[in-house]
Amino acid sequence: MIGTLRESLAASPLPRLEARLLWQRVLGVPHAWLIAHDADPLEPAQVAAYQALEARRLAGEPIAYILGVREFFGRDFQVTPAVLIPRPDTELLVECGLRAVRALRAPRVLDLGTGSGIVAVTLALERPDAQVRATDCSAEALDVARMNARVLGAKLLFSHGNWYDTELGSAGFDLIVSNPPYIDAQDAHLGRGDLRFEPAGALTDGADGLQALREIVQGAPDHLAPGGFLCVEHGWDQAAAVRSLFLRRGFADVASERDLSGIERVTRGRLPAGFS
Ligand SMILES: C[S@@+](CC[C@H](N)C(=O)[O-])C[C@H]1O[C@@H](n2cnc3c(N)ncnc32)[C@H](O)[C@@H]1O
Repeated sequence: MIGTLRESLAASPLPRLEARLLWQRVLGVPHAWLIAHDADPLEPAQVAAYQALEARRLAGEPIAYILGVREFFGRDFQVTPAVLIPRPDTELLVECGLRAVRALRAPRVLDLGTGSGIVAVTLALERPDAQVRATDCSAEALDVARMNARVLGAKLLFSHGNWYDTELGSAGFDLIVSNPPYIDAQDAHLGRGDLRFEPAGALTDGADGLQALREIVQGAPDHLAPGGFLCVEHGWDQAAAVRSLFLRRGFADVASERDLSGIERVTRGRLPAGFS
């Protein structure tokens, strides 16, 4: 019989951090409160609510979906099973985009495959003068992105459709960013761990993992202003192939950037001013 938080934490098969996060959600309190009140008696309804969340976690459901929130670039983003769970690696994509437009006033920015909106919303908040548009082929994902933009106070436009085949407005963009699905459809990891719960269309392009990247790189020059930048995230072993796609499409200053693990994770390039 569980009577206190201390007893519950001691009895839980979950890692201590996860059990604490679930208790914070059940009680609606910060971490410090849990420490100060770990000997307080719990209500049976609170114990039952905790046990329901614990059972979901033990069944493998990602903690971000159970809590409905994940931190990215210092802000809390709402997440649902309709969107990819934000990854820390994607902060590199945001940093790459911010560097690309740092010398521009009121840059025009396009985020392809926005998911929960982490990239577009962060760019709009870090560069309040930017005109940001975000797209996705999933209407459910766009609903989540819109909610995050509203809650975090970011101003941006959203469009629904297949990559560039959507309402983009007339302007050439100074920056296109994308973290597209890039896992090979045959990759066994898709059937393991957290990935089992994430939307398949956010993880894999249904082909060799480079198909979405090919389409994005191929279409970018038609939507970039002269001198505009394209920055894309990709898999740990795809950097050379992605650089090759950029170079064959006529991009200049092509380079890949490494994430905190030293892996080439983001590739960028600039459309030459005289591109034709
Ligand atoms: C890897 S997730 C990235 C989500 C978010 N930008 C992030 O970094 O967390 C890829 C996103 O691309 C979207 N997507 C997949 N295929 C697409 C397509 N053909 N056109 C537009 N969006 C697509 C998915 O719905 C998903 O939201």
